[in-house]
Amino acid sequence: MSVAPPLLAVRNLRTLLPIRSPFGGRGVVRAVDGVSFEIRAGRTFGLVGESGCGKSTLARTVLRLTPASSGRIQFDGTDVLALRGGALREYRRQVQVVFQDPAGSLNPRLTVGEIVGEALSIHGLARSRSERDAAVASMLERVGLAADDLRRFPHEFSGGQRQRIGIARALVLRPRLVICDEPVSALDVSIQSQILNLLADLQAEFGLAYLFIAHNLSVMRHFCDEIAVMYLGRIVESGPTADVIEHPIHPYTRALLSAAPRVPSRDRAALRILPGEPPNPIAPPPGCAFHTRCPDAIASCAVVRPELAPFGDGHAVACPVNAPASAEEIG
Ligand SMILES: Nc1ncnc2c1ncn2[C@@H]1O[C@H](COP(=O)(O)OP(=O)(O)O)[C@@H](O)[C@H]1O
Ligand SMILES: [Mg+2]
Repeated sequence: MSVAPPLLAVRNLRTLLPIRSPFGGRGVVRAVDGVSFEIRAGRTFGLVGESGCGKSTLARTVLRLTPASSGRIQFDGTDVLALRGGALREYRRQVQVVFQDPAGSLNPRLTVGEIVGEALSIHGLARSRSERDAAVASMLERVGLAADDLRRFPHEFSGGQRQRIGIARALVLRPRLVICDEPVSALDVSIQSQILNLLADLQAEFGLAYLFIAHNLSVMRHFCDEIAVMYLGRIVESGPTADVIEHPIHPYTRALLSAAPRVPSRDRAALRILPGEPPNPIAPPPGCAFHTRCPDAIASCAVVRPELAPFGDGHAVACPVNAPASAEEIG
């Protein structure tokens, strides 16, 4: 039996962002610092971690909006970092993005028809204005808006409706992978589940794969097939969602779960509150980047950088102190 190749495969990806200090010096932010993962067609891969850990930079690198410093990205077997010209345009049709802030990502001067239809024109997928408007209208209805909303402007809609416009804009190009960068983080809790349900329906209808980014594990529980937990540019734990959430191994994953709102009160004694702030990614700590805040750290954690090591069924952790004995390093 052959296993289908992954739709997206990211290998040891590094994205270092150049910065200037106020004193005229130069440095780099190690925003993405050696990340590997795979997403299969039609599946949802969740990426979770505190603000500033590199999630959006990873998304922008996969989208070819920010240059990678090293590593590989493969989409359907092709080398994404080598794409140029028409092949890069076609990749940018197949991989779309939905942003966190629908208000900020929709041009207030354009009508919804122009916002959603613009990419159809750029990609030559609509031969006339009426063909474009017909495609936009049917996509607006599909995301729960009205066909004649295409004549209105973004400010005439609520936050949840604006996110539906952002989703329509991504889907009208019939992508295979949609990167959702905190798509519900700016929305009221009551609206969040409506948007998640819509994304789930659209996934089934169009066979989409999602890279779903959030800073809170609770929204991922029912939505993602697999999750990866990111800390300071690295994945510290990954695996099937239920395994990671029910049997978290890394002390950082446990802390994130404790911070999620749905912890029952009888588990409060097990709450782990992280001391301090995440370290500065311009000068990450040596060894395990988490050791400065870790309740389980031993002397070697400040020296040896742990690799993500698999154990069991697809569950992997970068923590030699807590890893089950069967864990083997995957380099
Ligand atoms: N354009 C940029 N130039 C320099 N540093 C940046 C830039 N964008 C983000 N950063 C820094 O890179 C790190 C990762 O940021 P980001 O990818 O936005 O994280 P997240 O999406 O997880 O909140 C942060 O330390 C952030 O300050
Ligand atoms: Mg972000």
